[in-house]
Amino acid sequence: ELFDAGGLYILPGAIDDHVHFRDPGYPHKEDWESGTAAAAFGGVTCVFDMPNTIPPTANGEILAAKHAIAASKAHVDYGLYGLLGDNTIATVPELIDGGIIGFKLYMGNTFGKIPSPDTGATLECFEVAAATGKRVSLHAENNEIMERRQKRLMAAGKKDQWAHLAARPNVVAVEAVSRAAILAEWTGARIHVLHISTAEELRPLREAKARGVDITGETCPHYFLLSTDDYARVPGIIAVNPPVRERQNQQPIFDALVDGTIDVIATDHAPHAYEEKTRNDIWTVDCGFPGVETQMSLMLTQVNAGRMTISDYVRMSAYNPARIWGLFPRKGALLPGSDADIAIVDLDRDHIIRDAETQSRSKVSPWDGYKVKGLPIHTLVRGRFVMKDRKLVPATKGWGRSVHTIQAMPAPVVRNTEHSMQAITQGAA
Ligand code: NCD
Ligand code: ZN
Ligand code: ZN
Repeated sequence: ELFDAGGLYILPGAIDDHVHFRDPGYPHKEDWESGTAAAAFGGVTCVFDMPNTIPPTANGEILAAKHAIAASKAHVDYGLYGLLGDNTIATVPELIDGGIIGFKLYMGNTFGKIPSPDTGATLECFEVAAATGKRVSLHAENNEIMERRQKRLMAAGKKDQWAHLAARPNVVAVEAVSRAAILAEWTGARIHVLHISTAEELRPLREAKARGVDITGETCPHYFLLSTDDYARVPGIIAVNPPVRERQNQQPIFDALVDGTIDVIATDHAPHAYEEKTRNDIWTVDCGFPGVETQMSLMLTQVNAGRMTISDYVRMSAYNPARIWGLFPRKGALLPGSDADIAIVDLDRDHIIRDAETQSRSKVSPWDGYKVKGLPIHTLVRGRFVMKDRKLVPATKGWGRSVHTIQAMPAPVVRNTEHSMQAITQGAA
C-alpha cells in the first residue's frame, strides 16, 4: 500500500517522559485509552506515566496491575515510573524486577498527597537508586518552605492564584534542585529535574553538569510560553505545580532548552475535570492541565517563528529523552524512531487549539483558543498508524508496549543541530 507524505515532514515520534494518565484511580480525569489517544494526536509515540495514581505505583503487585491495564488499552508505547520514597526503599527490588523505566521522587507535595521524604531519607533513596542504575525523576520543590508559607496564607484567608504563587516562590525550586544535585553527587544517583519553572534553577543545573553529576533537566511549554500575565485570563485553570511564573523567566528557560542545558521538552500532562479546575479557592483547585496532545504543535510554532530549528526540536523531544532513558533500540541507531515510531507533520498548517476537540478526557487547559502553526497529521508506532489523517485508529488499542526491556545503548550528547539533521527527511515516504 502506497502512502503519500508529500509536503509533510517526517519526524521521530516525541517521547514525553512526564505524563499523568490517572489509571488506575481517576477515570473521570483520564485513563490509558484516552491518554494515549491524546498522545497519538500529539505525535507522541512513547509516554512515561507517573506513579501518583491510586494506589501509588509503590510495589511489585501494584506495578504489575498497572502494566496489565496499560497493555490492554494503550495506543502508544510507554514506560512506568516506580515511586521512590521512605516507604518504598524496601520495594525497590520488586519495582526493578517488575519493569520500571525509572523512579519518581516527590521532594515537595503535589497532586495525590504523596509524602515527601526528608533530606536524610532522600539521601538513602538516592543511594538505593544509584545501585540499580535507574534514573530518578524529581519533583524538585522544597516542602518545608511551601508548607510554612501555605499555612500562613491560608490562615490569612488568601485564596487566589497569587497566594498559590506566593506559597511557592522561586527559591522553593532552586533550593530543591541545588540540594538534589549535591545528594546525587555524593551518591552517584542519576537524576532528572522535572518541570523547570525558574531562570534560577539553571545555575545549579549547569554547575552540577560541569562537575560531572549525572543530572538532566526537563521543562514544559507553559513555563516559557505562559506567564503570570495569563493568570487573569484563565484563573484556576492555569494553576499548576510548580506555578507558571513571572515573564522574566520565559526567555532564559527557552534559551536553556535550545542550548541543551535543559535536555528534554515534556508536558507534565496533568488532566483534571472542569469543576476541579475552577473552584474559587486556590487551595482546593486541582493543579495541572493536559499537554501531551499540544506540545508538538506549540513547539513547531516556535520553529516556524524562527526561534529554534526543527532539529533542535527533535533533539529535545526525541533524541535526548531516548539518550537519557536508554531507548535506542539498535546499537548505532541514529535516532529514536528508527523502529518506525514516527510523527508526520504539516509545518504549514494553521490550527487553533480547542480543548473541547481534544482526545484527553480533561477538556480544560490554558491553551484553549491558542493559535499554532504546525500540526501532526499521522502518527506511527512501530510501523503501524495509530493516528491517520487526524483520526484515531481504534484497532490499535492495546498496540502500545512497555519500553522497559529496551537495552540502553550509549549515545553521544548532542548540543547542536548537525547530528539530528541527518535523520530528518522532507517529502515523500
Ligand atoms: C501533577 C498532577 O496533577 O498529577 N500536577 C501538577 O500540578 N503538575 C503533579 C505534579 O507533577 O506535580
Ligand atoms: Zn511534579
Ligand atoms: Zn507531573
